[in-house]
Amino acid sequence: MPKQVITPSSDSSAVSNSCAEYGLTTEEFHALREKATQAKSTAYCPYSNFHVGAVLLTQSGAYISGANVENASYPVATCAERVAFGKAITEGHRGFKAVAVATDISPPASPCGMCRQCIREFCDLSTPIIMFDGEQKYSIMRLEQLLPLSFGPEALGVPSQLQSSSSS
Ligand code: THU
Repeated sequence: MPKQVITPSSDSSAVSNSCAEYGLTTEEFHALREKATQAKSTAYCPYSNFHVGAVLLTQSGAYISGANVENASYPVATCAERVAFGKAITEGHRGFKAVAVATDISPPASPCGMCRQCIREFCDLSTPIIMFDGEQKYSIMRLEQLLPLSFGPEALGVPSQLQSSSSS
């Protein structure tokens, strides 16, 4: 099981190292942190009161946010990550550089199993997933660490250009 290393976002040398390792600029990192934190406040979660914000960074530099949307019929809730991907895909975005998720708990929450599979549909296995807690501490892992031995669209012969072509 991958070890979750938790680092303050205020530790600029650690953030620089993470960015170098995962192919992000520090500006992108902090934009993801701010936008994921802001997205958390847009959650509709009167049943769990568990606010989740998600932000996707596209290869072309766009940021698409989402938050969890709950329902009186509890299983109908949609997670923040899948709201963000639904928005991004229907707006024509393809090709994602990073996914950020923010919650108020520590250690930082990681995407649920259903969301990992959704990310797998649209992202390379090397895509970094950045998880922020309520105090701006983060952990970062690649999709392949969160979802090993995964099943994806290529198993069904879906052409890769459907995933990687970008209209934005
Ligand atoms: N939730 C997310 O938005 N993302 C996840 O990856 C895990 C869970 C939401 C769903 C529900 O609204 C609340 O968190 C509690 O499960």
